[in-house]
Amino acid sequence: MCGIVGYIGSQQATPIIIDGLRRLEYRGYDSAGICTLNGGEPQIRRAEGKLINLENLLREQPAAGTRGIGHTRWATHGRPSEINAHPHRASGIVVVHNGIIENYLKLKERLQQAGHNFNSETDTEIIAHLVEEHFRAGDDFETAVRQALNEVEGAYAVAIVCADEPDKLIAAKLGSPLVIGQGQGEYFVASDIPAMLSHTREMVFLEDGEMVVFTPQQMRITDLAGQALVKQSKTITWSPLMAEKGGYKHFMLKEIYEQPRALADTIAGRLQGEEGDIYLEDLGLDDQQLQGLEKIFIIACGTSWHAGLVGKFYIEKLARLQVEIDIASEFRYRDPIVNEKSLTILISQSGETADTLAALREARGKGGKAVCICNVVDSSIARESDGVIYTHAGPEIGVASTKAFTTQLVALYLLALKLGRVRGTLSATDCREKVEQLLVLPRKLEEALELDTQIEALAREFMNARDFLYLGRGNQYPIALEGALKLKEISYIHAEGYPAGEMKHGPIALIDENLPVVVLVPHNATYDKVVSNLEEVCARGGKVIAVASGEEAALEGKVEALIRVPETSDDLLPIMTTVPMQLLAYHIAVHKGTDVDQPRNLAKSVTVE
Ligand code: G6P
Repeated sequence: MCGIVGYIGSQQATPIIIDGLRRLEYRGYDSAGICTLNGGEPQIRRAEGKLINLENLLREQPAAGTRGIGHTRWATHGRPSEINAHPHRASGIVVVHNGIIENYLKLKERLQQAGHNFNSETDTEIIAHLVEEHFRAGDDFETAVRQALNEVEGAYAVAIVCADEPDKLIAAKLGSPLVIGQGQGEYFVASDIPAMLSHTREMVFLEDGEMVVFTPQQMRITDLAGQALVKQSKTITWSPLMAEKGGYKHFMLKEIYEQPRALADTIAGRLQGEEGDIYLEDLGLDDQQLQGLEKIFIIACGTSWHAGLVGKFYIEKLARLQVEIDIASEFRYRDPIVNEKSLTILISQSGETADTLAALREARGKGGKAVCICNVVDSSIARESDGVIYTHAGPEIGVASTKAFTTQLVALYLLALKLGRVRGTLSATDCREKVEQLLVLPRKLEEALELDTQIEALAREFMNARDFLYLGRGNQYPIALEGALKLKEISYIHAEGYPAGEMKHGPIALIDENLPVVVLVPHNATYDKVVSNLEEVCARGGKVIAVASGEEAALEGKVEALIRVPETSDDLLPIMTTVPMQLLAYHIAVHKGTDVDQPRNLAKSVTVE
């Protein structure tokens, strides 16, 4: 997730902005840049890699001025490079941006036809050109920004300066965070509180659709129609460390709560036209190639492998293509039968997992095409694949993967829908219905997060259990595996995930009054079957925590605890039931006092075999 810092006042902007960007480093980034105004030409300095590279550049080519904007970039559109680093400029208009502009291709085409030349591969540069277009047509800076923002769709937080009106700095937000810091005769703006805490604790939180125009003496907040708004400031008492985590106790919890946004970003820009056709910008395979496929391999490790297990359901159901799924370290040594009619899908949050990378090389070495689902732009796996579907989860810092997993499921679903349409196994009407469900998913996930208090209380009750069993069937079985993995990873409690129907072939021997059994039993095709399995557990005294959906009433009184997630389509229920799995593991770990964000012996990215 990118970081924005802006300053307008009487001090030199550069040191303030660099210090602010440093305090946003925890968000992850791949390049950085700054622009200051000093009466004349905007002073833009950008560098790939760590902030120190930008600082070295600034030592050689200082950027003076008492107004400025800065940025750390986490690539989404366009690889990490100096050219793609922010700020972006069109004549005297200079922009930094966090978020994703969904209609950027359409706008870019229009602007190019009007004679605008683009220097980068980013969606951000569009904003600079749009503002510049309105400015050149006679609007003042403020009106030009407002006009431009009314044309863009998607999510943004922006900070913008204009060489011709150097006493102003404008910022606005829709979907991405932006906070204002109020000083004496100076203002700060940043995508997160820690960037400004050493200067002020008086903050104003911008809401979606709000825009603010700063001069050193005053700020004016309006909506995008130009209506003035009055907002109260808040005094922030957080410590710098708390501020980094957005007030959450751990990164993992913050990332669990970021999921609605992450899902919306992963869907953004990928549904096109009235029909809701699926557009996967960097897939690297044309329709003809997709039609010619005879088999799919899905390869991954850890949590990403669990996503792949759900992906198999999606692709087989919607595209009627046979899918084999394997753990990367197994695949690479089993001499798999890959050929030019097969497609290998590698799933990796980091894009650097050694076994997954080796499996990719193995598959491509055998003549098959390979596409990856990845969260880190330009990572090794993304670079070496024929195509890539990026999950736009933003950097994941907690070692236990959460938002990366649910966005992987969305990416797999988009791919399955695309395959289904191209191969003629999914009608336009069915696809549209599924897309509609997908579009409301982020909001429903927000509702699922309201289960937090109930699950926290449950966690207290079950924290001393020695073992846990997780049961699920069909596309809920991988979620049982993921629930068990989350618990193991961060609470160090032994947990096993099992297909519910397989319980009678072994795990049933473990059941007694000391064994909590989490049963995933949302309303889907196998509901009745899973209820039978659940009753088998109850009959043996096992303590059932049931994860059901909608208005579920039949299980009331039968089970120890009943968690109800919002209703959605069968395909999307695995995303919904993941949330209580994450929260249960999280709260048990917190009660036990383990190191939630950095559990013992585990690494975020495993780059050795
Ligand atoms: C490590 C992490 C897991 C992750 C797995 C695969 O084990 O701790 O959270 O699921 O690697 O990582 P990847 O980056 O390839 O998804």
